[in-house]
Amino acid sequence: MGLAVVTRGLDPRARLADFGVGLAGTSPHTNVLRRRHLYDRRAALTFLREHLDVTSEAGDGLVQVQHRFRLSTVEVATLLLEAHRSDPKRPKPKAGSILQRLYDSKSADSIPYAEPVPFEPDPAAPRLDGIGTVTLGKRRIPRLGVGCMRLVSHGGYVDGEVVTAIGLPLSPEANRHALLNAVQGSGVRMLDLARGYGPWPGFGEGMLCDWFPLPRRGLMLASKVGYRRTVSATWAVDLDPKFLRAELTASRQVFGAAVPLMYLVVRSTPTTPVVHRPKQLARALAPLVEAQREGEIELLGVANVTADELEVLREAGPIAAVQNRFTLGALRNAPQRAVFDRCAELGLPFVTWGIFGEGVQPRPEAAPVVVEAAEELGVTAEELTLATLLAAGAHVVPLPGPGRRASLDSCLRGAALRLPAAMRQRLLGALM
Ligand SMILES: NC(=O)c1ccc[n+]([C@@H]2O[C@H](COP(=O)([O-])OP(=O)(O)OC[C@H]3O[C@@H](n4cnc5c(N)ncnc54)[C@H](OP(=O)(O)O)[C@@H]3O)[C@@H](O)[C@H]2O)c1
Repeated sequence: MGLAVVTRGLDPRARLADFGVGLAGTSPHTNVLRRRHLYDRRAALTFLREHLDVTSEAGDGLVQVQHRFRLSTVEVATLLLEAHRSDPKRPKPKAGSILQRLYDSKSADSIPYAEPVPFEPDPAAPRLDGIGTVTLGKRRIPRLGVGCMRLVSHGGYVDGEVVTAIGLPLSPEANRHALLNAVQGSGVRMLDLARGYGPWPGFGEGMLCDWFPLPRRGLMLASKVGYRRTVSATWAVDLDPKFLRAELTASRQVFGAAVPLMYLVVRSTPTTPVVHRPKQLARALAPLVEAQREGEIELLGVANVTADELEVLREAGPIAAVQNRFTLGALRNAPQRAVFDRCAELGLPFVTWGIFGEGVQPRPEAAPVVVEAAEELGVTAEELTLATLLAAGAHVVPLPGPGRRASLDSCLRGAALRLPAAMRQRLLGALM
């Protein structure tokens, strides 16, 4: 498809300094950078016009275009749409192609791109103090992560149905910068993503790397492999070792460094199709174990597992963390509670996602005991939900998915809440 001509290998973490940060000034140096950036954009647009067929490819080609022309991930998406719109012959986007996903994004007409802003921790962000830490390999990190799914992607439309995380994010770039600056200022150290968030694999990973060199900020990034996009379904679980191997290599290429924590997603929702699942689940973990040995990933985790699967997978490799969908209601659900309890016994960090109902509107009402106690404390039910999850076990690491700065601040306030002993007893007594 012609992409072999594209040079590979520029360090993605160096690119921000190359084209973004500092462009506000008017020194001769910044003018040179700006001109070079405009030149790169024009060259990329020409290239994409000539290779519009890359849009039906898996996305690795676009990652190469990005590296070759020193562009940010969102810029490549913008230019791809521009290349297609300005083509007089304009081929109809193929079903399931990246181009179609971009058109299907709600935000296709107003691409949320702005020049990257200099990274500055926000000193006004609420601080995460005294919530305790968990151990992940050689790191000790505070017991709150931030899920970035909504920052790097948004639902698109497939066959008239809204689906999660395949499109471009809705919010403007400035919102994401403000949110990440607040994360950095707050003391949160774990950001969570997946290979699949955004219109092409690695899009979300690339977006975070575009902003700032995460490792140098002390931030730990977690990503996930184990599912792919298909034309007939938006997600499908694929645990084929060959596919996983290729995904890990691609992820390493986007990061330009070892991925700090990579989860194997063992299943998705009950209705998500399964393309491939080895009879022996342990075989699916083998590529991650190998990637860890080869220094492509630092730590490995598993996501969406049952207690039995966790045992099988622990035999197959050094699991550093478990990430499951887990709401306060799950404390009374025997199969979900079994994973929670086993992680506590093993001292394994138990990262919980979907704690606010995954953004479904109207949001499912919190349990009456939580609503009442939140009123007494003068906090929101979400804030108390977070505090209660933290109180339920020292191994729990809640992973909320804020899309706005206000929601992040609220999460930080919730995590910092110190529950009076009697209230803690009342809540945990009713919920566990
Ligand atoms: N392992 C897996 O299979 C898997 C699957 C899906 C997601 N995840 C991870 O889990 C993270 C969280 O998932 P999620 O976003 O679906 O679930 P979520 O945290 O249950 O829901 C996110 C929604 O909650 C709102 N929100 C967040 N904090 C709030 C607060 N303090 N008060 C009021 N509303 C608040 C957000 O609103 P605003 O947008 O208005 O801020 C957003 O609409 C994702 O970002 C991703 O990293 C993992």
